[in-house]
Amino acid sequence: MKIGVFTSGGDSPGMNAAIRAVVRTANHYNIECYGIRYGYQGMIDNDIVKLESNDVSYTIDKGGTFLFSARCMEFKTDEGRKKAFENLQAHGITALVAIGGDGTFRGARIFSDEYNIPVIGIPGTIDNDIAGTDVTLGYDTASNTAMEAIDKIRDTSTSHNRLFLVEVMGRDAGDIALRCGIATGALGILIPEMEGDLELLYESLERARLRKKKSNIVVVAEGEESGGALLVSKKISEKFPEYEVRVTVLGHIQRGGSPTVFDRELASRMGVLAVEALRSGQKNQMAALVDNKMQLVPLERAVTEKPEINLEKIRMAMVLSS
Ligand code: F6P
Repeated sequence: MKIGVFTSGGDSPGMNAAIRAVVRTANHYNIECYGIRYGYQGMIDNDIVKLESNDVSYTIDKGGTFLFSARCMEFKTDEGRKKAFENLQAHGITALVAIGGDGTFRGARIFSDEYNIPVIGIPGTIDNDIAGTDVTLGYDTASNTAMEAIDKIRDTSTSHNRLFLVEVMGRDAGDIALRCGIATGALGILIPEMEGDLELLYESLERARLRKKKSNIVVVAEGEESGGALLVSKKISEKFPEYEVRVTVLGHIQRGGSPTVFDRELASRMGVLAVEALRSGQKNQMAALVDNKMQLVPLERAVTEKPEINLEKIRMAMVLSS
């Protein structure tokens, strides 16, 4: 067996640690390992390099992905996938570890079905929106980055008696917003999964106004139903002219930076499991953390299901902000 490893889609902190774990585990079992650069694009362009243990030294603490990443349209075509398979064959690569989100896994599943090449996925996305695993790689680092930024915004918000809307990432997923909202004591949290949360926010704002609360933070996921923090701020300013509102969009700062201890450990555990799974003949599975135990779950689940938002956390956030 020869293993190819790649990262694809939006990068997330911990991807380098996962690549390292894959390479080192493969080496441990005397399996050759190849890094495919720029994800599926590199497979098509034959941008493939052999990786030895030394090549992954000093990478565990680095953000981003040293194999680079891309969102590749050509891989969606039959010709693109054929080229990719021929390049893998030329290197003798017979199995893949795919690190990325649901888009990455969708491509992997089609490719694996067409060319009978076993794939193990490692869920790497800051959004924490992959079904079958309690947590995705990079989510912890991204939410810590957002939390630190919001704490700083809290200081200036208090000094000036202002209402801040802080937009965090999450086009379709509100997990970063929910977690950071709870962790920073936000007055409100707006997420794409919940309809009508703006009305609830208005109620909280009215309560805060009556009790003369000095500093207010609302954490807004970029994909929430009004269309993001700027649009929400306009609505709030019209309804509550007495609030002095400011907006901060945190953006891609959440995607970078050195991974937390949690993400480094998670990446290491997932990387080891991925290689050991391939070695034992598994295919089309995802390395997942379930109830704090590593396990394999079918890749199919990760691409066909969406994780449910934690209603208990939403309830808790409302209790704490009242
Ligand atoms: O999927 C991760 C993510 O960071 C989302 O939260 C965000 O909406 C999107 O990627 C941004 O993508 P891009 O970097 O391509 O603009």
